[in-house]
Amino acid sequence: MIKAGLIGCGKISANHISAFEELQDAKIVAVCDLIEENLSVAIQKTGAKAYKDYREMLSKEKLDLAVITLPHSLHCEATCVAAEFGVNVFLEKPMGISVSECEKMIEICRRNNVMLWVGDPQRYHGGNIVAKELINSGEYGSLIAISETRCTNYFSESRPKWFLNKKTSGGGILMNLGAHTIDRIKYLTDSEICEVHGKIHIRDGYDVEDTAQVFGVTENGVSVTMNLSGNAESGHYATYLYLTGGEIRITSYCSRVSACKADGVFEDFDVPQTPVMKAQIADVIRTLKSGEKPIVSGEYGKEIIRVIESIYDMNA
Ligand SMILES: NC(=O)c1ccc[n+]([C@@H]2O[C@H](COP(=O)([O-])OP(=O)(O)OC[C@H]3O[C@@H](n4cnc5c(N)ncnc54)[C@H](O)[C@@H]3O)[C@@H](O)[C@H]2O)c1
Repeated sequence: MIKAGLIGCGKISANHISAFEELQDAKIVAVCDLIEENLSVAIQKTGAKAYKDYREMLSKEKLDLAVITLPHSLHCEATCVAAEFGVNVFLEKPMGISVSECEKMIEICRRNNVMLWVGDPQRYHGGNIVAKELINSGEYGSLIAISETRCTNYFSESRPKWFLNKKTSGGGILMNLGAHTIDRIKYLTDSEICEVHGKIHIRDGYDVEDTAQVFGVTENGVSVTMNLSGNAESGHYATYLYLTGGEIRITSYCSRVSACKADGVFEDFDVPQTPVMKAQIADVIRTLKSGEKPIVSGEYGKEIIRVIESIYDMNA
């Protein structure tokens, strides 16, 4: 049985807890949070032992895996501490708030011989899997461009306040949601984004960007554009893939895929609705047990931060 400790029992941790509930070979045995209320919800759901200090948890429990779901600025420190206790790490996205933090985490995990997975989840979304199968089928020609538009109310009351503070979040919509866009592009193209250019906008009186417009090219020649806006009242999330012989669209929050050939007539494809977190955690546990190298590794997560950091640098 793989014994996991959850560090951070906020909003997304409910998904991690549900995913673990469905596994036969892994269990959350310890949970940690500073906020009593969050901790008690996690204890009720897991029956795990509760801690307010993750160092204490890591020193007292014999854990195989630390699942880190903390504010972004705490990812690096918590990962390094877990690694120094010899505990493998599954770390929520974005990996860190700078490339140098990512390099530090990779190095400390390597030195302590522990595995590191980053929770960049796009390869587990049914919509992306179906779209990639369509690309690889060759029926639509070669992929030449990807354009993603995501509009949301980034500053809604329900968002934890630390997301809106540059020090704790590392950035706004680009750091948080742009990380998913870059992850999706990496997955769909099997390549890295290079030659990146981008513009961000920060509203007066705010600390993090509400808008990001990014243009880049992947190393294998696919042009990419991202248009992220945090100012919408209603959500819009669509990814259009342009190929030499047609177009593939991933829409409705990745739950719908349609495609057309040169005639322009779109056909809908079935999209498996497997919960993303369940698939992701199952993969972490499978590779932890087999010792297989993680695909969404520290190096993978670092490449996403490299793109984001380069856009922040050019806007500084
Ligand atoms: N994969 C996804 O689609 C997805 C979705 C949402 C959030 N996330 C990521 O998950 C992470 C957490 O986001 P969230 O929305 O759950 O935030 P949140 O604020 O709801 O949760 C963070 C929790 O960490 C706790 N915490 C803070 N400092 C701590 C410390 N020193 N020790 C122990 N606990 C501490 C807070 O009390 C809070 O309960 C972020 O990296 C975020 O980007 C990923």
